[in-house]
Amino acid sequence: MTSIELSRLTDEWIWAYEDYDPRSERLREALCTLGNGYFATRGAAPEVTAGAAHYPGTYVAGCYNRLTSHVAGRDVENEDIVNLPNWLPLRFRIHPDDGPPGRWFSPDRERDGLLLYRQWLDLRQGTLHRALRFRDAHGRHLGVEQTRLVHMGDPHLAALRTTFTAEDWHGTVEVDSAIDGTVANNGVARYRDLAGAHLTKVRTGAAPDAADTVWLHCRTTRSAIHVALAARTRCRAGRRKPEQVLTKLAGRRAAQRLTVPIGPKKPVTVEKTVALHTSRDRAISGPLEAALERVRHAGDFNTLLGSHAAAWERLWRRADVEAPGEAGHILRLHLFHVLQTLSPHTADLDVGVPARGLHGEAYRGHVFWDELFVLPYLNLHFPEVSRALLTYRYRRLPQALRAARAIGRDGARFPWQSGSDGREETPEVHLNPRSGRWLPDHSRLQHHVGSAIAYNVWRYGQATGDTGFLHAEGAEMLVQIARFWADSAVFDDDLGRYRIKQVVGPDEYHEGYPDADRPGLDDNAYTNVTAAWVLARALELTRELPASRRDDLFARLDMRPGETELWDEVSRRLYVPFHRGVVSQFAGYGELAELDWEGLRARHGDIRRLDRILEAEGDSVNRYQASKQADVLMLGYLFTPAELGRLFGRLGYDLDEATWRRTVDYYLARTSHGSTLSGLVHAWVLARARHRDAWEQLQEALASDVADIQGGTTAEGIHLGAMAGTLDLLQRGLTGLEARDGVLWMDPAPLPELSEYGFSVRYRSDGGIQVRMKPGQLWVGVPPWEEEPVRVQLADGYVARDGAGPRDGVGFEVAPGENRLMPLRESTLS
Ligand code: BGC
Repeated sequence: MTSIELSRLTDEWIWAYEDYDPRSERLREALCTLGNGYFATRGAAPEVTAGAAHYPGTYVAGCYNRLTSHVAGRDVENEDIVNLPNWLPLRFRIHPDDGPPGRWFSPDRERDGLLLYRQWLDLRQGTLHRALRFRDAHGRHLGVEQTRLVHMGDPHLAALRTTFTAEDWHGTVEVDSAIDGTVANNGVARYRDLAGAHLTKVRTGAAPDAADTVWLHCRTTRSAIHVALAARTRCRAGRRKPEQVLTKLAGRRAAQRLTVPIGPKKPVTVEKTVALHTSRDRAISGPLEAALERVRHAGDFNTLLGSHAAAWERLWRRADVEAPGEAGHILRLHLFHVLQTLSPHTADLDVGVPARGLHGEAYRGHVFWDELFVLPYLNLHFPEVSRALLTYRYRRLPQALRAARAIGRDGARFPWQSGSDGREETPEVHLNPRSGRWLPDHSRLQHHVGSAIAYNVWRYGQATGDTGFLHAEGAEMLVQIARFWADSAVFDDDLGRYRIKQVVGPDEYHEGYPDADRPGLDDNAYTNVTAAWVLARALELTRELPASRRDDLFARLDMRPGETELWDEVSRRLYVPFHRGVVSQFAGYGELAELDWEGLRARHGDIRRLDRILEAEGDSVNRYQASKQADVLMLGYLFTPAELGRLFGRLGYDLDEATWRRTVDYYLARTSHGSTLSGLVHAWVLARARHRDAWEQLQEALASDVADIQGGTTAEGIHLGAMAGTLDLLQRGLTGLEARDGVLWMDPAPLPELSEYGFSVRYRSDGGIQVRMKPGQLWVGVPPWEEEPVRVQLADGYVARDGAGPRDGVGFEVAPGENRLMPLRESTLS
């Protein structure tokens, strides 16, 4: 490695590992994944195959397949994102002129001789680098430098450049560059008993017109998606040519063997360029032809690197975040992975938000409610991507209508886990790895996912002013979700209120009442309050629609007389339970037993997954006041104190500040944070209540993936919700930023530990409005190309407010090309 590269390791744009550690290799593979929204490849070393320490994986967004497995005495069907043929393989061994040949290199076999092993991501230009130096058993030294990219400009291309340096010997280096189709979905130990062979009809070949190119073609077994990869391998060794180039096609592997002369001061560079297409792609005749043609026309590595880095530069201009220290470093890594999973290319695809990125196989690549933590961030940078992600839901609305009908209800019931066609993909059984038992999974009762979709539709409309979407697809989804809630609510004469029964809330530890013979809980406060919000928004939107649009929509959706009146009534009379002066997570929560938190911690250390711990001990978390993650407190994440106050007010409840604070404390003391979303939501809510606790929670959210705090889960895929959510925490959570009615509303709540940072948002036009927080100051800059001044409305101070919400604050305008610095009042929070 050159000295320039060494100095860059300390750069804030570099994410580096300084050694080889097989125990953390799978985690690093996930964190060093490269992707472009269309596909992603884990950061596995090119010479390894799947095994205990390594798991190469390549995933195309939305490429799913179903398989049937026999577990726990029954057949279960699962749909998975498919691990596609591995394009990385590039093995090498040395053949010195005056000694025995070396072995195929592997960092595991050669560990004793590894003199240097560094791996780093260059976040700015989107590349993964590796530099290693080793001495083999005969004392011969070889240096290897690698750079890898998954092209951000042309989403079907990837490339790997390897430079070999023989330090003290002459001879040849033999390189085996392959596409490996012997892959399966084996990335998650818990799924070991489930079928994983998704690919069939694997064929390989050599390009008819290019001696340096091989290809592999296959298809998924049931979804019948055809997949093709073409790999071109070329050697750049000055004027010297490889002594030999062989094409090796064997079984499910297509390879090229190059033997290249090498010696001290005569480094050899091998460039592998890969194209990937599937039959889901547009504007192609067939995936194999397309892949071959793409790779044939691809430039050399330097050319690709140039256009790739330029594409990244454009992305960073639309979405950078600048914060000091370790937090800033991690936030930039988060942004990097968010953009690799959901890039502008996503706008052209029919895909949703995969909870674990395109970085591994956990949760099978499924789409949950996590988009609730992702879209609000994207809205202010890549609204076209948000719209595509909402359109993924819209296209699956007919399935959601059928799912509601199947349980005898009106409207749309979106699935808790969604994949290719929008049917319910939540498994019926899941494995507790602690007890080895397969258990029923009732998380599909999390009907609140529909409210998350409605919320995203609404916020997208507000942030972008895209009435084209909001008044058409958006309105249709909102109405159908509202209908589901109106029809799910049952009037209870004794309470004089509507109730929604048999659901599961965001805290999925509670799936039913202790010893009950049916799953589900009644009156989940989060479900009910968000349902009331959806109903109120559906009313508002349908009232605002131009009359002809409304008539058209109502006729198309077969609206019955009295329906909107019912929405209004339910939105005002849904039941929200309280106990001991706090909002109850669900009816009866307050009567559950208290958990011996300290005792459990003393016995088990990490008790985040106390559902598994208790089940393994023959107990059940259903018996206790113990939550996995924020449930009631999610309300403080979605709504400002003012909005929440109004929502409860509409329902006829008085949620004063004291009640809310008691509620926050109550659940904070009873939450195990068994999801990475938990720290994030708590940080958000606590930022306006208690700084010290907020910072602690934020640190937990920041550590989620880089320190793999959920005990091994990051190796199976990053947590996209927590990653995007932490970015949004800076963008909206700590600034109170809201684009609404042509005004940028701000209500800052800076944390002392994170009081200086900046970002830009896309608002009204392409240009970035610059926002900078400094201790005691807020700075807003408007680019010169804006046509009109930007109006900012700053709430009066940032101390926690009463339920009535921000008092009238200061309004000001910033003209194009100008900026304003506003003093902020000191916080009295500690
Ligand atoms: C969380 C869910 C989340 C899912 C996927 C679970 O552990 O409890 O809220 O949607 O992971 O990220």
